[in-house]
Amino acid sequence: MEAETPKCRRVGILGYGRLGRFLASQLLSVGPPHGVTLAFVWTRRGGPMDGIPPELHLKDLEGLQHTGVDLVVEVAHPCVTQEHGEEILQHADLMLGSPTVLADPDTEQRLRGAALRGGHTLYVPHGALWGCDDIQRMDHNGTLAALKVTMTKAPESFRLQGWLQERLVAAVASGGRVVLYEGPLRPLCPLAPNNVNTMAAAAVAAPSLGFDGVQACLVADPSVPDCHVVDIEVLGRGSCGRALRVTSSRRNPATTGAVTGDATKWSFWSSMLACRGHGGCVQLC
Ligand SMILES: NC(=O)c1ccc[n+]([C@@H]2O[C@H](COP(=O)([O-])OP(=O)(O)OC[C@H]3O[C@@H](n4cnc5c(N)ncnc54)[C@H](O)[C@@H]3O)[C@@H](O)[C@H]2O)c1
Repeated sequence: MEAETPKCRRVGILGYGRLGRFLASQLLSVGPPHGVTLAFVWTRRGGPMDGIPPELHLKDLEGLQHTGVDLVVEVAHPCVTQEHGEEILQHADLMLGSPTVLADPDTEQRLRGAALRGGHTLYVPHGALWGCDDIQRMDHNGTLAALKVTMTKAPESFRLQGWLQERLVAAVASGGRVVLYEGPLRPLCPLAPNNVNTMAAAAVAAPSLGFDGVQACLVADPSVPDCHVVDIEVLGRGSCGRALRVTSSRRNPATTGAVTGDATKWSFWSSMLACRGHGGCVQLC
């Protein structure tokens, strides 16, 4: 008797920028051998989707429930999940490319509730967070004392809001390396929704610290025009100078002005393949 071929999971992509293009192209070219296939791509205001067959253009998110999609991947902007996340979780798993959306307590509660009710998984990808699993394990074991994430990028790579944007303008004028923000992560997320998603993944990996306890540092540095640097400092519990300390520095080549570094595209692909349906919960992937 022939072995039954497992069904391919149908994946919908929200957003067609660097990550959306990469994931959609991977799904179309090598998806089925990996057990995944492209269900649709959606962009705001029906933006151009070169390379995507017209029958896979989703014009309106209202139509999502009729696509038979198993997993929706948001790679656009946190506001997309804020607006449509609950509805999506009624029908499919959801992978959050922009987990800064979870810094808003009301939104986090709504999304967690929707995952639980719908029996679908809310996935948060590791993204550019090196050592994500180790941080999560320490948190589970109660041995994590502190976590700081510093992100350094060229000024052109930032998409900032409010007073942080004004700070960036001043930093550009100064021409040198400037610390734009240092402090708890939560207030930073709405000011840099597209730039600190790696930090947001850290807050999900370490719920004992969360968005209020994870320390964030954002640096504009024109001397790194072609890479994104993520420095992570982990401090374990312990006394008399015997606490575990881990520091890592990830230098990821990036096109000038891009919000996503090159290696992170592959991290997202691996995360997407790990989204096999874990039931109604929040899961790192
Ligand atoms: N978790 C992580 O570590 C990590 C790493 C890299 C990128 N990201 C996030 O993934 C997302 C996509 O990254 P990217 O490099 O593809 O970005 P990009 O700028 O290349 O593309 C974003 C796409 O989303 C669309 N978009 C922007 N604002 C929108 C809005 N308000 N509503 C609907 N669509 C909107 C754009 O038109 C574009 O198609 C960003 O939010 C980024 O911050 C997360």
